[in-house]
Order: sequence, then C-alpha cells, then structure tokens
Amino acid sequence: MADYQVKDLSLSERGQNKINWAWQYMPSLQFLYNKYKDSQPFKGATIAACLHLEAKTANLLITLTKLGATVAACGSNPLSTQDEICAALAKNGVHVYSHRGMTTDEYFNYVRKVLSYKPNVIIDDGADVVATIHKEFTDLIPNILGGSEETTSGVKRLRAMNSQGVLKFPMIDVNDALSKYLFDNRYGTGQSVWDGFIRTTNMIVAGKTVVIAGYGWCGRGAAMRAAGNGAHVIITEVDPHKACEALMDGFRVMSMEEAAPLGDIFLTLTGNIHVIRREHIERMKSGVVLGNAGHFDVEISKPDLSALSDHVEKLRDNIDAYIMRDGRRINLLGEGRLTNLACADGHPIEIMDLSFSLQLESALHIFTHKLKPGLYPVPAETDRAVMESKLAALGVNIDSMTEEQIEYMKGWQE
Ligand code: NAI
Repeated sequence: MADYQVKDLSLSERGQNKINWAWQYMPSLQFLYNKYKDSQPFKGATIAACLHLEAKTANLLITLTKLGATVAACGSNPLSTQDEICAALAKNGVHVYSHRGMTTDEYFNYVRKVLSYKPNVIIDDGADVVATIHKEFTDLIPNILGGSEETTSGVKRLRAMNSQGVLKFPMIDVNDALSKYLFDNRYGTGQSVWDGFIRTTNMIVAGKTVVIAGYGWCGRGAAMRAAGNGAHVIITEVDPHKACEALMDGFRVMSMEEAAPLGDIFLTLTGNIHVIRREHIERMKSGVVLGNAGHFDVEISKPDLSALSDHVEKLRDNIDAYIMRDGRRINLLGEGRLTNLACADGHPIEIMDLSFSLQLESALHIFTHKLKPGLYPVPAETDRAVMESKLAALGVNIDSMTEEQIEYMKGWQE
C-alpha cells in the first residue's frame, strides 16, 4: 500500500462505495481507461495532483495509477477533502496527504509532501502547487514536463506568471476548454451550489431574493438554477457586457450597495477579493445567508464579519452565525469556502466526468510531448473527442456536414 497521511483508514469502505457509485456515471473516463489500459501510457510518470479529494477526483487518480502512473495527491481546499475518500485512495495505491479541516500550514505541508515525490507531471486546481514549486522547489523544475490547471482562479495566476516570463514549464489551461467551462463552471456550479445551500440550511429557495455576485460562467449557472427554483435573482457585476447580458436574461442588475439590504441569500462567484465587505454587511437584513463558490475564501470579507460581530454561534454544521453588535445574525456557509464542496459533494458526477477526461488527456499530452514553458489550450481535437464520447454515452446523434456543406463553409462568393 502507498505511503499516506489520512485521518482514519478504517473509513475506506465507505469511501470505496462512494467511488464505485460515481464510477458508474463516468462513461468518458471509463472509455479512456479502456482505450489506454493495455498500452499503460503513464508508465514512468510521477504525477503530483492537488484537487478536491472527493469521489469523482478519486476515480481520476485511481485511473491514472491503473494506467501506469505513480500518483501523489493532496486536497486543494481544507473543507473539500472527504476523509473516507482519502482512506480509500490510500488503499488504491495513491500516495494521499490530506484531511478535512486542515489548517493553511498543514495544507502547504501536504503540498510539500506531494512534491517530495519529485513529480514530472502536475495536476493543479488553483495553481498552489505550481506557485510553491516556483517559490520553494526550483530544483524540481528541470524534471517537470509540465501540467494542467483546473480552474479560472488558477488560470488567472498562471496567466500572470506567463506574462511576467516566470512560468518555467508548460501548463495546459483545462478550464478554458469548451467541454469544461460550458458544463463544469455553468451547470456544475449551477446545481451543486444549490445542493450545498439546501443540504446545509434546510431552507427554501423559492420566493427568496438571491443576490449573485459575478455573472461569469459560474454565476450564470447559479443564477439560472436560482430562478428555476423560484427565487427573485439580482446580479451584481463590474463588467458592463456581463451586466447587460444578465439584464437581458431577465435578471435585475444593481450595485452590491443597493442589493445588500434586499437580499436573503448572497452568493459570490467572481474570483475576486472582498466582493462582500463591511459597507455591505452593515446594510444586510438579519438572518441572511452568505455563501461563496469562487475558488478562494476571500470573496466574502471574513475579517470584516469578525470586526462587526460580537460573537459567532453554530446551530448547524457548516454554518457560522455572526451575531452583530446590533443583534443581527449574518450566517456564513462553509467558512466562506466553496459552498458546493465544503457543504456538499461538489459538482454532479456526469459533469466531472468531462472535466476529468480533459485532465487525463491533458496530463497524457504533457507527458508525451516536449512542450516549451508557457500556457497552452487543451488541443481542439481532445476537447472535441471528450464531447463526442459524452454524446455517445448519452446515446445522442448529431449530424455531420456533407461535402457540399464543407465546401460552402470555406467559400465567400455564395
Ligand atoms: P468568470 O471569469 O467567467 O466570471 C467571473 C465574473 O465575476 C466576471 O464576469 C467578472 O466581471 C465578475 N466580477 C469580478 N469582480 C467582481 C466584483 N467585484 N463584483 C461583481 N462581479 C465581479 O469566472 P468563472 O469561471 O465564473 O469562475 C468564478 C470563480 O469560481 C473562480 O474563482 C473559479 O476558480 C471558481 N470556480 C468554482 C467552481 C466551484 O466548483 N465552486 C467551479 C469552477 C470555477
């Protein structure tokens, strides 16, 4: 069995059951496993993965080991790690280092532990592994063929590193593949953020005023599903195009200052910092629920919540009620960390089947091509193949262009 640091190995059966449940609904990943199992294309790969350690991720990591890789993994967020999944991963030969509720120091120590395997391929979610290598472990860089990044906030950091000329190995931007953001960010977040809210609060969404900060891919999904659940939706934005799009999608658009006294539920999905802060919290009604689904726990200002409050009460798991000095209760879900992962199981299985198929193919691309340092898109044929395998699994046929149509589309004289 692999070396590991997990909370309790005896939880592994429960974890394995969750992993087996998810595997049934991951046809694209199953397809890739069957395609590559004989050739073992990851033989010689040592993969360092920093991902949300839940059942779908476990299927990616186990598949990689079954295809020949040595895999060392840590959780990418203190509250998204599921201890039973870590236990099952350890039993499946993954070198896993994480536990739910880890501190920031423990988190970075787990990242360092994963890097002690001297990886040649990285799978990152938020770019902490890549940043840690560039800050603390530059000696590993010559051995690293490259990696892939899962999320918008991680890609933002990689773009900054790339434009400053400091990114020392190639990274594939999985987030911006069509098979990723159109589904994972939009429909995945759209469903799972409400799954997290409903499970955690046991409250109704219908009839509530929901304020969604950010009308990007995640915000669109969350707003769409809030409306579908019968909420009145208000959007806040900083981008005039997105704001106008939200307006034309039928939502009210206003500043956070205007929305603060109106909302019952607030969700931040911006990838930005302190989107909800002191001047907004001061105007909110008692009993409101605040949740974040952006990658980092900085979108809702926890320092401002603490500064304005007298004490914190906990009546249910994953809800901190900040009791303001004026007596109002402001409820924060999952310590302001990704609501869908801290308070639920993350995106639906069928969605992560797509994202993790892209991750597997991207890791293979990195391992089998000698790319120069930089940020690369997922190869278009890979993006298309993942979507085609999804449609095939769903039994959906689409048309192909006729020769005449192909020629027509190339022309200009009509
Ligand atoms: P995006 O770039 O498509 O959208 C972000 C939107 O927020 C943009 O329209 C931007 O104009 C807006 N925004 C920025 N600052 C703002 C502010 N102060 N007030 C209001 N709006 C503001 O990004 P995407 O893909 O929607 O991702 C958003 C965040 O969610 C990122 O941190 C990403 O990493 C994370 N994410 C989380 C997932 C989850 O499972 N919870 C899944 C995928 C992404």
